[in-house]
Amino acid sequence: MEHTQLISDVQRLTESVGELPEPLAEPTFIVVSGLPGTGKTYFCNKLAERLPFVILESDALRKALFSPPSYNPTESSHLFRAIHHLIERFLKKGIPLILDATNLSEQHREYLYSIADRLDVKLILVRVEAPPQVVYERLKTRQENSGNKSDAEWAVYQRMKPSVQKIRRNHFAVDTSQDITPVLDKIVREARR
Ligand SMILES: Nc1ncnc2c1ncn2[C@@H]1O[C@H](COP(=O)(O)OP(=O)(O)O)[C@@H](O)[C@H]1O
Ligand SMILES: [Mg+2]
Repeated sequence: MEHTQLISDVQRLTESVGELPEPLAEPTFIVVSGLPGTGKTYFCNKLAERLPFVILESDALRKALFSPPSYNPTESSHLFRAIHHLIERFLKKGIPLILDATNLSEQHREYLYSIADRLDVKLILVRVEAPPQVVYERLKTRQENSGNKSDAEWAVYQRMKPSVQKIRRNHFAVDTSQDITPVLDKIVREARR
């Protein structure tokens, strides 16, 4: 990809994020992982009510660069290259952030680990899960609310399920069909520590 293209993509993403929280001397980087419909975005929003972090939601950022999005591998690698630059730019400025993306493979997460290690920032990993029956019902409702009655999102969930890989580093796990408050409390404590 051309370098000038990358610069302009990162700029566009920065603008789409809007207002940023106050910079800190030691910003924390929170990475959330999970299949579609497991409740990542819901969880991130709850977390951001308690921590002054910016949320980088890959679905929203994708739409800022590609409309309509195709979700093909070329588009995704283009998007994530820009997201990695954005993460680095924000953390270097001291902006604490939450990455809301599926982040299913360890290979993809390695990039994120290496950014945190290189910048020496605290990294908090979160695995978001919910029972398949709950995910099915949620995705059906989410689609119906957006005027789309097909099972497209459930098909995406099923297609992505085999690519889930164990997170090799220490992480928090949350089942969003249960009360999420105890895990929110733990993460808030860990982020402030
Ligand atoms: N803990 C929860 N309690 C109630 N509803 C939830 C919870 N987590 C997710 N949902 C609902 O389930 C749907 C899917 O959640 P979402 O956060 O969009 O999933 P993801 O971002 O992982 O695709 C949304 O409509 C959301 O409001
Ligand atoms: Mg989401």
